[in-house]
Amino acid sequence: MTYTLITGASKGIGKSMAIECAKLGMNLILVARSMPLLEGLKQEITKDINIDVQLYAADLAKEGASAEVYEWCSRQKLSVDKLINNAGVNRFGSFDNLPLSEKKQVIQLNVNAVIEMTHYFLPDLLKQREAHILIVGSTSSFIPNPYMALYGSSKAFIYSFSRALRSELKRTNVSVSCLCPGPTKTDITSAAGMKEVDGWKANFEMSSESVARSGILGMLNKKAKIVPGFSNKLTVLLSYITPTGFLTDNAGALMKSMGK
Ligand SMILES: NC(=O)c1ccc[n+]([C@@H]2O[C@H](COP(=O)([O-])OP(=O)(O)OC[C@H]3O[C@@H](n4cnc5c(N)ncnc54)[C@H](OP(=O)(O)O)[C@@H]3O)[C@@H](O)[C@H]2O)c1
Repeated sequence: MTYTLITGASKGIGKSMAIECAKLGMNLILVARSMPLLEGLKQEITKDINIDVQLYAADLAKEGASAEVYEWCSRQKLSVDKLINNAGVNRFGSFDNLPLSEKKQVIQLNVNAVIEMTHYFLPDLLKQREAHILIVGSTSSFIPNPYMALYGSSKAFIYSFSRALRSELKRTNVSVSCLCPGPTKTDITSAAGMKEVDGWKANFEMSSESVARSGILGMLNKKAKIVPGFSNKLTVLLSYITPTGFLTDNAGALMKSMGK
């Protein structure tokens, strides 16, 4: 019996991915800080679908947390064949105003936890007949983000990491994909200290369900880069052909307008 492990599964895109994977009959290991939310999701899923769902509460921004998740899975003899590094956090504000602790939180969760989870689980994934790693980046992976400088850089880092790792693992049983959503209707925007998306910008927001569906299908089809939705595909295309200074200044003006 094998499992799909999803970090940040208690809400948003991670929760929708858990539901999508469950519909495809995958057994699940769901990780996030909030055990009550994970328990609610387990009940919701197992009410209708006969799969095994294991829960683990962890703050992945804490030193050593990824190792603890891996050791727990090993002790429980849970064999993971799909690793979904989804948990992420954003902090809005100019670099000089953000406290160092908040800066570190973004890097610890969005970068270090992704690297550490992949480090610990990869040897076991390589022993599976077929295995997948899905890393959740962003359209910010392609565009520097003033006022969210660390968020954008963290997503650029993990996109680059996912492509390099994919290349290293090309001749193995493990495929690596990066899901790069644009604005998606979840709690992350307000938690970051930004205004809810409204007006014309709201037209570009996707639902977490459709982003999750694209991500899981893309992962199973071994796609390198998964950009859900037409406007996000256009954004990524424009990022390739627009001069970086112009692109960054305009992204900054848009970001600034979203501050509370
Ligand atoms: N929403 C968007 O517009 C958007 C766009 C592009 C990319 N993304 C990316 O998509 C991913 C999911 O974001 P989302 O929008 O679904 O956000 P969300 O609704 O805020 O969900 C974030 C998830 O991560 C978990 N999490 C947060 N901090 C954690 C920590 N320290 N340790 C363990 N788990 C933690 C949260 O659960 P707990 O609070 O229970 O720990 C939650 O399950 C992120 O990587 C984000 O960067 C989002």
